[in-house]
Amino acid sequence: MKGVILAGGLGTRLYPLTHVTNKHLLPIYDKPMIFYPIQTLVKAGITEVLLVTSGPHVGHFLGVLKNGKELGLKHLEYAYQEKPDGGIADALSLAESFADGNSVTVILGDNTTDADISEDVRNFKEGALIFLKKVDDPKRFGVAVFDEKDPGKVIAIEEKPQSPKSNMAVTGLYMYDSRVFGFINNIKPSDRGELEITDVNNAYVKEGKLRWAELKGYWSDAGTFNSLAEANNYWANKGGK
Ligand code: TTP
Repeated sequence: MKGVILAGGLGTRLYPLTHVTNKHLLPIYDKPMIFYPIQTLVKAGITEVLLVTSGPHVGHFLGVLKNGKELGLKHLEYAYQEKPDGGIADALSLAESFADGNSVTVILGDNTTDADISEDVRNFKEGALIFLKKVDDPKRFGVAVFDEKDPGKVIAIEEKPQSPKSNMAVTGLYMYDSRVFGFINNIKPSDRGELEITDVNNAYVKEGKLRWAELKGYWSDAGTFNSLAEANNYWANKGGK
């Protein structure tokens, strides 16, 4: 299995910090944010990784990550997303030739977790699998709706629902078979002008091929001042491991 880390975007909610550098190079306790998703992949045995990035500070990555060896990667490739806010699915589309017909594990560059996803990576065969996390405030997230007869199957993902049908939020970790790139080709930009990963996931739902696993452990994105501070506190208390 190969890994893809999506680290494009503009990080506007973190201005003026993201005038200094790319969001994913900001510190979380004792290392740049991007180290955390790399660690998650390496811990799961994924050592061939594509980093998709963009924006005004794109060159900063090379000096920090180099060829990835210091972080346990065997192969690190970079791709440049022309429209930095084209959407998560737009960023993922750049991984098609890297994936080369294989399945990929995808993680958003601002997601930090101490969950171990090795078993899910090992067992993945086809379709798509999304990692969900129980949250107290599902109205703020993409929320999964489950098949009553087959609770392993997701039958819809509702974006920031007024009346959430579950308290299981969609995180920024996903596994897709190679058909994902065909699905991305068929979706249209949303009202906010982005190719949405939710539309890709819902394409798998239509085929009855979207399954889920619980992300066990701590999980947070670090895209707002509050979540960045919270992630810093969590990892500092944990000693940064
Ligand atoms: P977001 O937090 O939705 O977007 P952003 O990083 O641009 O931040 P803001 O809303 O504050 O402007 O994106 C989540 C992650 O997805 C982000 O860490 C990087 C990745 N991403 C891309 O790689 N390309 C994109 O076009 C977008 C929108 C996000």
